[in-house]
Amino acid sequence: MTNNNENKNPAAAARGSELASDFTVSINYDSRLYREDIAGSIVHARMLGRQGIIESDDVEKIVEGLGVIIEEIENGEFEWKEELEDIHMNVESRLYELIGDAAGRLHTARSRNDQVATDTRLWTQLACGRAFDAAVQLQKSLVDLAEQHIDTVVPGYTHMQRGQPVVLAHHLMAYFEMFDRDATRFAQTAESADVMPLGSGAMAGVPYDIDREWVAKELDFSDISRNSMDAVSDRDFIVEFLTASSLAMAHLSRLAEELVIWSSDEFGFIKLSDEFTSGSSIMPQKRNPDFAELIRGKTGRVYGSLMGLLTTIKGLPLTYNRDLQEDKEGLFDAADTVITALEAAAGMIAGMTVNVDRMRQAAANSFVLATDIADYLVGKGVPFRAAYIAVSDLSKQCIADGVGFGELSLSDFQKASDLFDDGVMEITLDSAVAARNVPGGTAPERVRAAIEEAKGLLADAGA
Ligand code: ARG
Repeated sequence: MTNNNENKNPAAAARGSELASDFTVSINYDSRLYREDIAGSIVHARMLGRQGIIESDDVEKIVEGLGVIIEEIENGEFEWKEELEDIHMNVESRLYELIGDAAGRLHTARSRNDQVATDTRLWTQLACGRAFDAAVQLQKSLVDLAEQHIDTVVPGYTHMQRGQPVVLAHHLMAYFEMFDRDATRFAQTAESADVMPLGSGAMAGVPYDIDREWVAKELDFSDISRNSMDAVSDRDFIVEFLTASSLAMAHLSRLAEELVIWSSDEFGFIKLSDEFTSGSSIMPQKRNPDFAELIRGKTGRVYGSLMGLLTTIKGLPLTYNRDLQEDKEGLFDAADTVITALEAAAGMIAGMTVNVDRMRQAAANSFVLATDIADYLVGKGVPFRAAYIAVSDLSKQCIADGVGFGELSLSDFQKASDLFDDGVMEITLDSAVAARNVPGGTAPERVRAAIEEAKGLLADAGA
């Protein structure tokens, strides 16, 4: 590759005669930081002018030139140059072409080290906002669907075995809770990223009378970093973003897995909308839950980015090291993945059809009332362990006879324990869910209250 930006262009010349190699180039992905990079440069230039560090004429030229560059980039006219390696050098070099020598004053009292840390912090804050909104959108879909299924009975599972009846709304609201914590983690990560490094220079600070507070205020940062050496080498906020994303993907993949299972012929609990399924190229009957599967599958790459960055920063000596350039691809990819996955999950929940009868049947054709029948004996004074054994024997007998509890007469029950009376015949799926009337329980009354509370939380989040 040749260095065809003549030596007059200092940004280009900064590459020296060194051969640009693909290995060090980051422009293919860090061009995504262009808005943050240019916003940072505009504020930095203005601050230099305000402080009398550079002439106001030069500030005007710089700001104008940077405005042209933004437009060129957004119109697709900007010529990205790999030999200029990264976003910072590409912008600065173009600025030189546009305004000449004044461009060389922009990098006064600044280094790419504090610049890239600033850009990435701005970008991460925006990504946190988008991930937060997407999580809230998913929560909203869950609440909307839950509201329609406060009385829909479905088996609740432990060990993937039918355990106790619950209402579908309760099951959906369990995911509401997970995504609530995820949204909170994205908001907390935005706060971690909300610290401005500019003014740290390469690592020791800068020998100019700069105004860091003013720059922070203009760029909408709440704080300035307290230690320049830390500021240029800290990527904890990205680890936090990747952690929040990984947990969100873990929750999404659990939900996705349930959608895959529930939409199978074997379960038949739900039907996913066409938008989120696809046919098979060979088996004409297929409706594959591709979106759910890809959400589940893409979880791996997000975890990979987290592990990758943790490994990259391990053992790095202070301060900036080029290793840190490896922070961005994982960050961008995780943000794209988690935001799209949250949006797709929201769409799947909003668009799916619930087979209420199938769910109730699955609960009815099972022994999910066993606990309630044992609890009934407890009410008659039997110790729970003894009641457990009586009902366990009874269910074994039923399985041998090929019948369910629902088909037993009172005298059948009384063979298991003479303490059974008419009341046992009143135990139903609905009475069982209604009985779990504790805070956090599946009683429809409690679930309705939980949904009301959730709507309040969503309203506070602006959804
Ligand atoms: N592309 C670099 C990165 O992302 C920018 C900072 C380069 N600084 C340096 N001293 N080479 O980390």
